[in-house]
Amino acid sequence: MTQIFAHRGYSASFAENTMGAFYEAEKAGADGIELDVQLTKDGEIVVIHDEKVDRTTSGTGFVKDFLFKEIRNLNANHKGLKKEPIPSLIEVLEWMRTNKLVCNIELKNGLIPYEGMEEKVVQLVRRYGLADRIIISSFNHYSIVYSYRIAPEIETAPLFIEGIYMPWIYSQSIRARGIHPKHSSMSDNIIMNTMDNGIAVRPYTVNKDVDMHRFFNINCTAIITDDPVKALRIRKQYEKRP
Ligand code: G3P
Ligand code: CA
Repeated sequence: MTQIFAHRGYSASFAENTMGAFYEAEKAGADGIELDVQLTKDGEIVVIHDEKVDRTTSGTGFVKDFLFKEIRNLNANHKGLKKEPIPSLIEVLEWMRTNKLVCNIELKNGLIPYEGMEEKVVQLVRRYGLADRIIISSFNHYSIVYSYRIAPEIETAPLFIEGIYMPWIYSQSIRARGIHPKHSSMSDNIIMNTMDNGIAVRPYTVNKDVDMHRFFNINCTAIITDDPVKALRIRKQYEKRP
């Protein structure tokens, strides 16, 4: 059965990449969450999508220019009344020990090559004993290969915007166990061929009913969606199939 990963948490209804959005994704019954990480000035891994805090918080400026204690004062809950800080990865992983979710950590190191980001993430995943429930993804495929080299026990998955030729060959060559393509970039045939070759396929960001039906129908490994509640409702129609 296709797994449902909540993109930046349950971000269709709650502020993206906040603990609130992650809690609500779990409450809704999602199989996993996806989140984005950046690095503060003092080397703390924090959960935020953009290199700058401007779009999603009450502050302005680059994440890399804030100390952790400074960035924690910002409000990341622009959708709700209750103030919520930007989570640290530690906070998320501590909570992960209390549930059964899978967590896809996207390393946002394509624009800013954060020194030591892979080591820090791997160290935390190991400290919390979560290697078998974590997937490390990135648009930076050098970082994906490096992550595999330092932690072969953790699944890696390169992110793609465009389709590529025989993605399973590429994935196998970099020892990635999955791929995360833009949902419109891959045909059903290529997705099924990739899965037949032992590679997990988790397209992003699948929000429309018609696209959800498409991926559930071919039993795709997972979808990454802003709206896990809608996805769960639609998936129900496919659950009784042999
Ligand atoms: O991980 C899938 C998706 O989140 C990648 O794009 O921009 O939403 O981080 P973006
Ligand atoms: Ca992401």
